Amino acid sequence: MRDLVLGVDLGTSGVGVVAQAADGRVLARADHSLDLETPRPGWTQQDPDAWRAAAEAALAEVARAVGGERVAAIALAGQMHGMVARDAGGQAVHAALLWNDQRTAAEVDEIHARVGRERLVARSGNPAVTGFQLPKVLWLRRHQPEAFARTARVMLPKDDLGLHLTGVAVAEPCDASGTGLYHLADGTWDEEVLAALDLDPALWPPLVASDAVVGGLRGSLAAALGLPADVPVVAGAGDNAAAATGLALGRDHPHIGSVSLGTSGVLQTPLATPTPEPAGRVHLFAHADGAYLLLGVTLAAAGSLRWYRDTFAPGRSFDELVSAAATAAVGAGGVTFKPYLAGERTPHLRADLRGSFHGLSLATGQAEVVRSVLEGVACSLREALDVMTPIARPERLLATGGGAVSDAWLGILADTLGLPLGRPVDEAGQPLEVGPAEGAAWLGWRALGEAPTRRPRAESWFEPAAARREATEDAYARYLAVALPELDSSGG
Ligand code: XUL
Repeated sequence: MRDLVLGVDLGTSGVGVVAQAADGRVLARADHSLDLETPRPGWTQQDPDAWRAAAEAALAEVARAVGGERVAAIALAGQMHGMVARDAGGQAVHAALLWNDQRTAAEVDEIHARVGRERLVARSGNPAVTGFQLPKVLWLRRHQPEAFARTARVMLPKDDLGLHLTGVAVAEPCDASGTGLYHLADGTWDEEVLAALDLDPALWPPLVASDAVVGGLRGSLAAALGLPADVPVVAGAGDNAAAATGLALGRDHPHIGSVSLGTSGVLQTPLATPTPEPAGRVHLFAHADGAYLLLGVTLAAAGSLRWYRDTFAPGRSFDELVSAAATAAVGAGGVTFKPYLAGERTPHLRADLRGSFHGLSLATGQAEVVRSVLEGVACSLREALDVMTPIARPERLLATGGGAVSDAWLGILADTLGLPLGRPVDEAGQPLEVGPAEGAAWLGWRALGEAPTRRPRAESWFEPAAARREATEDAYARYLAVALPELDSSGG
């Protein structure tokens, strides 16, 4: 009996696959790691063929664990914004440029000059951003003209994996809206923007719905992976929209948002209409349920804590450090950390920003420094929330990602954001891991015409504490008062 859907998350650090039953239970899981190439500071790229190999290995492992004949569909999620360029024979003409690659500041300026920043925000929901796909295509044209001339097809990461699995090239709205060349209200590739940049629309694949079947798994792969021939492959969604689907954010629960504390931190909230923030300081993307998602992204969230640990406290566990931070007073004894270790997206959109500590004194100990890191990340997400608030303000947030296991960090986040936060659990109160792979599997069930029955609810709401409010607001005011350096490039 075909009673399982495989959800695939093509992440940056690895490809994860889950086998999900129709009631939402995950019966098996496999992860295969991926290497990251950083040929120059600020450049990040991966071999798209390594994605395929890692996905095959993870799919085969899960198929072996559950019995491949049980698989009714495969559905995809993945890192957003990246560019895979392939020639007419299907060979990649260049490494895939990733969502956190910062090499395209000049191309961002070019897009704004040729299209108009305001016009682009009105049409696509966002200005040009260094991480997004469109400036990457212009970078390839400018810096690798021979590779660009051979390019027959430009794909987003998880769609490129779908092409490998099925032989069919498509894109879907959630990820397409993170390219910079998608007209959000019309739900089409934006041919006016492409014309302004002299780009051929035929380079991009047709658009289908997020819960559409792309095609059947190619026979040769099915045999090699131990899966039924022709098992349907479902388009899926970019990782944030997929995670939001798994958390049931969207039309049905318009007042619940989510915050994820992974390498980067993402605060997202659903929106019924494609209404951009007028200055484009928070991202606006399509959601998989026909609604939209407003997103604030801070590029170094748990990544900031990891950097601190690796640099200043090697050998210490995150638990130890966060427990120490919890002993320091709110406001970290006057220490402020700006978490711009990888530049910053929301709300500054600046690839050139760098991290910093302020207010250190002889009285500062490790507890204060670590606390300032946790508070700095929370303040960065608060800046995103403040910019979103006139458009849509969630009433509560579900917290996910590695950093969300820490009570201390969630407490700081609840205080700083002024919103209750909870971790997702199932009906029995058991912690529920809901990431992009699980959310993709929900889309797979939807494609099969089944509504998954188990929905996450939250527990252990961390309520913002009135007693800490003044000190928390003082710390946020200090954070905002640290002036940013003069602008010397754009993007982010
Ligand atoms: C969102 C973003 C990241 C990537 C990570 O805009 O860039 O969340 O999707 O995979």
